[in-house]
Amino acid sequence: MRIVVFFSGTGTNLKSILEHQKKYNYEVCSCFTNNPIAGGIGFCNEYKIDCKIIDHKNFNDREKYDGLINSYLENLNPDLIVLAGYMRIMSKSLVDNWEGQIINIHPSLLPKYPGLHTHQRALEAKDKVHGSTIHFVTSELDSGPIIRQESFEIEPSDNEESLINKVKNLEHKIYPETISFLIKQ
Ligand code: GRF
Repeated sequence: MRIVVFFSGTGTNLKSILEHQKKYNYEVCSCFTNNPIAGGIGFCNEYKIDCKIIDHKNFNDREKYDGLINSYLENLNPDLIVLAGYMRIMSKSLVDNWEGQIINIHPSLLPKYPGLHTHQRALEAKDKVHGSTIHFVTSELDSGPIIRQESFEIEPSDNEESLINKVKNLEHKIYPETISFLIKQ
């Protein structure tokens, strides 16, 4: 089973997905980033995975940019497209072309807190629990059908940084597991 991973930043989820390839019997055949200085590029080099870099700042037109992504994906024809901290909204036509094959991980218990600053928003709301959600990507931001959700209790001593770390530790376990689950379906 061949998967493609999209990322924009540090890429710790990408790293965990790469580390679990053998265990879960999937292959990351390529990666994509919109950010030429994303930390995740280093993990692609380490694992000798081809990384396609297209800087979105060179494009005014989202349809044109996503058209290039679509051609990239058509060439590869992956079984699953995994968004791991990919910080760009995908156009409807791109999502529709690959609907049911694109998944995302979001650092909140959706439908709570779509968008950014999820940890801070959970703290400000004095939530008792926080966590992460894996869902199918549709053309509406952070709102496709939920595949898996895991939570933990927020401790009185928690702050934004500690929640980021707790959520990421959880994600590094559940994302590779969920990829493995989906490709067996
Ligand atoms: C993760 O917390 C994920 O839920 C969100 O972006 C973050 C990416 O972190 N979509 P990393 O780049 O994988 O470290």
